Amino acid sequence: MNSSVDDMMIETRELTKLFKDVRAVDGINLTVARGELVALLGPNGAGKSTTLRMLTTLIPPTSGSAQVAGFDVVRRQREVRLRIGYIGQGNGAGHSQRGRDELISQGRAYGMTVKAARSRAGELIDSLGLGEVADRTVSTLSGGQRRRLDIAMGLIHAPELLFLDEPSTGLDPQNRANLQEHIVRLRAEHDTTIVLTTHYLDEADSMAERVIVVDHGRIIADDTPRHLKTKHVGDRVILGFATEAEAVDAARTTGGARSGTEVVVTTEDGPHLAPRLLTELGTVARLEVRRPTLDDVFLTLTGRSLREDSSTPAELVEA
Ligand SMILES: Nc1ncnc2c1ncn2[C@@H]1O[C@H](COP(=O)(O)OP(=O)(O)OP(=O)(O)O)[C@@H](O)[C@H]1O
Ligand SMILES: [Mg+2]
Repeated sequence: MNSSVDDMMIETRELTKLFKDVRAVDGINLTVARGELVALLGPNGAGKSTTLRMLTTLIPPTSGSAQVAGFDVVRRQREVRLRIGYIGQGNGAGHSQRGRDELISQGRAYGMTVKAARSRAGELIDSLGLGEVADRTVSTLSGGQRRRLDIAMGLIHAPELLFLDEPSTGLDPQNRANLQEHIVRLRAEHDTTIVLTTHYLDEADSMAERVIVVDHGRIIADDTPRHLKTKHVGDRVILGFATEAEAVDAARTTGGARSGTEVVVTTEDGPHLAPRLLTELGTVARLEVRRPTLDDVFLTLTGRSLREDSSTPAELVEA
């Protein structure tokens, strides 16, 4: 294996999936380097799950190609599967066994010895904070606990690469925050490359170093959350004036856009520009700095809001 393949956990070329006449995934070129935590963000039907299902060898691409952990997803399925973990959207561990036993059976299914599987299960139970519930029947666990157990299942064979399809959908905000914390810690402790999908803008923003925005089966943006926001939207400094004449002057001085007695200045760095404008302009009556969210980015790129779409799945998925 040469070094570039070794450092690249995922590399796709024009990856495409058609379901009859639906272009679910439409020519995706994606690279993920070893150790990255990447979020695929996009509305319902954008093609996130279909992309993950191709990368995890569950469905074959219609055209294009993908290398995962150094192996082709079509020709070298077995090698890919041994190196990855996958937690699908809304799937989960069985109900009647104890969590710890589920984990050990899963490890055995990957060819681990009982001893190795037991010891790895113990480690994961600790890192995912499942110590108090691991010896209870799975059916008695809460939604958040189940999700953490699912993640442990995906990690039992110590995969280099973990795919999580909407890990936190259906969880309440507190459990969601808790799960995010666990994912970030896991990654640090086990050195796992993680690709997850989410509808939650704040989640993508706070957890991922790189956000890949997907819409209609295509990648429409791919960058750090910070760059996406400064590049596509920017901060807005909103200045309010007592009179329209003052606003006209201020719009001229700052190059901002005026509407009535208000002037909006777009900038990369609102918190630093705002005090400078106050000093320069002198007569400002009201000042506000608005920093963009990833939803603003999506809105700028597509003319649509992600937020409207994001409420549906959480209600449909059982916690
Ligand atoms: N097995 C299938 N047969 C036919 N169409 C499918 C199938 N799976 C997905 N699709 C279609 O492909 C498109 C992409 O679906 P996909 O599940 O990848 O979206 P997603 O981004 O994961 O959406 P969500 O956020 O709702 O989970 C959708 O239009 C969907 O209806
Ligand atoms: Mg999906």
